[in-house]
Amino acid sequence: MPESPRDQILRLRAAIQRHEELYRKKHAPEISDFEYDKLVDQLADLEREFPMFAGPDLGIGDDKSEGFQQADHKAPMLSLDNTYDEADFRAFGDRLYKALGGTGLEFIVEPKVDGVAVSLTFEKGQFVRAVTRGNGARGDDVTANVSLIREIPRTLKGAPDLLEVRGEIYMALAEFQRLNQLREAEGEPLYANPRNLAAGTVKLLDGEEARKRRLSIVCYGLGACEPASAFASLKEFKTKLKDWGFPIRDDIDVQQGVDAAWKAIQQLDVLRRDLPFPTDGAVVKINRLEDQRRAGTTSKFPHWAVAFKFPPDQAETILRTISMQVGRTGAITPVAELDPVLLAGSTVARATLHNADEIARKDIREGDTVRIQKAGEIIPQVLGVVIEKRPADAQPFDFEGRLKELGLDATRDGEEAAFKLRAPSRDMKIRRLVHFASKQCLDIDGLGDAVAEQLVDSKLVDVPVDALGITPPQWRMLEGFKDKSVDNMMAGLEQAKQRELWRAIHALGIPNVGMQTAKDLSRHFKSMDALEAAQPPDLLLTKIGKKGGVSYESVISGVGVEVSESILSFFSDPNHRDWVKAMRSAGLNLVEAAAAGSVAGVAGKTFVLTGTLPTLGRDEARDMIEKAGGKVSGSVSKNTHYVVAGEEAGSKLTKAQELGVAILDEAALRALLG
Ligand code: IVH
Repeated sequence: MPESPRDQILRLRAAIQRHEELYRKKHAPEISDFEYDKLVDQLADLEREFPMFAGPDLGIGDDKSEGFQQADHKAPMLSLDNTYDEADFRAFGDRLYKALGGTGLEFIVEPKVDGVAVSLTFEKGQFVRAVTRGNGARGDDVTANVSLIREIPRTLKGAPDLLEVRGEIYMALAEFQRLNQLREAEGEPLYANPRNLAAGTVKLLDGEEARKRRLSIVCYGLGACEPASAFASLKEFKTKLKDWGFPIRDDIDVQQGVDAAWKAIQQLDVLRRDLPFPTDGAVVKINRLEDQRRAGTTSKFPHWAVAFKFPPDQAETILRTISMQVGRTGAITPVAELDPVLLAGSTVARATLHNADEIARKDIREGDTVRIQKAGEIIPQVLGVVIEKRPADAQPFDFEGRLKELGLDATRDGEEAAFKLRAPSRDMKIRRLVHFASKQCLDIDGLGDAVAEQLVDSKLVDVPVDALGITPPQWRMLEGFKDKSVDNMMAGLEQAKQRELWRAIHALGIPNVGMQTAKDLSRHFKSMDALEAAQPPDLLLTKIGKKGGVSYESVISGVGVEVSESILSFFSDPNHRDWVKAMRSAGLNLVEAAAAGSVAGVAGKTFVLTGTLPTLGRDEARDMIEKAGGKVSGSVSKNTHYVVAGEEAGSKLTKAQELGVAILDEAALRALLG
């Protein structure tokens, strides 16, 4: 049966929300912007046709992350509507001519920089803060990391009393390559694309790490300005930005009318390949600020500006075979082995096929000619099959049959997309051990690929923690181990036992928990015991809205639905609990060195207590919150961050539910306070 329009709408909305979260919160999208935009357009078309099934507005999302203070934007930070072809673009022009009447519209055409939007506030000419777009009305205060960008002037001569300068933080392509070369040299997985790395860097809580990655900025827009009459046009504003020393694009030519703007867009399509930053389109804006005001905005987009998205680079090639890649956790990813083809400046011979469902959905067969696409990311996507070129004898791909042929004994849970090996293979055991000992985990000197192979083959190591208990006589039995190297290894193991908690967490190899998340978890839970004991609400707050809709709010940065499920499922496996036990008996450090006083995620946050908590008295709870740097207030408002609710909580709880304020019970409060 074909899917009903209502089901299609529900499916699209769920998919869009998931991809939004992957993009904005995890900085790890699974699909290209182009594909994402297509989903949004499909949903809009369907909801227009079947308005009775339409859901609430999806808004522009939110990039709010745990660990950051929030700050209001004086003028909202909106998104841009997209256009994809000349007709779309001309329709935008036509609407403006109609709305503003007469002739003589002036446009400015700029590259659309693929990075993260930021608002820089200057008060009396002094740089005071940098804030992300957030939900458009308030965002995360990222002044600390943005202050590392030296090109931003700190004082402006003759500036208006209040000025919000809007711009895009990006990672230059050369810097992206430099960082990835370092990663490669260390045998670490490569960063996927410059946009996600820029977004991740802006939100780093670890200043040390942020310092190692160079970010850049280009400024292009005016937010709030007092007095409002300071500038008459975008050109005038940008010229002033340049005088003040802001990095801006030099192309501030004013285009008279839609034809001229269209020509400028086409010129940019050629020029963009030589720009030092990633771009995925052009932005066309009305020049005169008075015209901008008259054109107005929707809640999401200005009517006076539009993005023109350049089509991503695509190519056709033949898919020879589908191979299976087994990851460290046993998850199997199908990979397309392609006839090499030139795409966006590099030769492509492989592309990810994600999972079995994706192959079935697109009916991808070996021998097919496929269209592949690269849009900013490093790993190209297979868009689909060129059916006309399918060989007569091509057979539907039998995923499970292929696993059998390859001797891979794999299965999958009903809900999981990926097949996983039932029992860890030799290769997985080796890779798990290498991960465990790697620089980003316990950093055990001398325990690399070759030693790991020997340890697994000699059955000294089945699970990674076994390595901590190997005795000197056992080491001596391995090839290449003499007295000196055994001593070194034992010393290395001793050092590894004293390392930070996040390393032990990362070393467990919990799917979806990378180094950054391990650090965030460590900072939040303070001990492996607390992490292991975490219940669903300690990891992620589930909020039931007034209309019964479910939404989630992160308690810990980087921990959304997927990551929290992954953590819970990991520790629900008794084998994994045994690993932790073995770590403990081996004497591995499993607590976070106490950071005196304030707790990230609590400092500066406002709490309201209501009802009777199971064990904590009011004053005790208040004391704990205040010691961690939080404030306790008597009434619930939109400025409340958390309501701590116990037995017989009354109107404050109801109010919190209405406002969508996060609600904690005692256990969740204790977890938050560490
Ligand atoms: S103007 C209300 N100009 O694209 C005006 N935005 O898809 C919106 N962007 O949120 C901003 N380059 O992060 C503008 N030259 C440019 C831009 C640009 C990149 C980003 C910005 C915006 C997003 C909308």
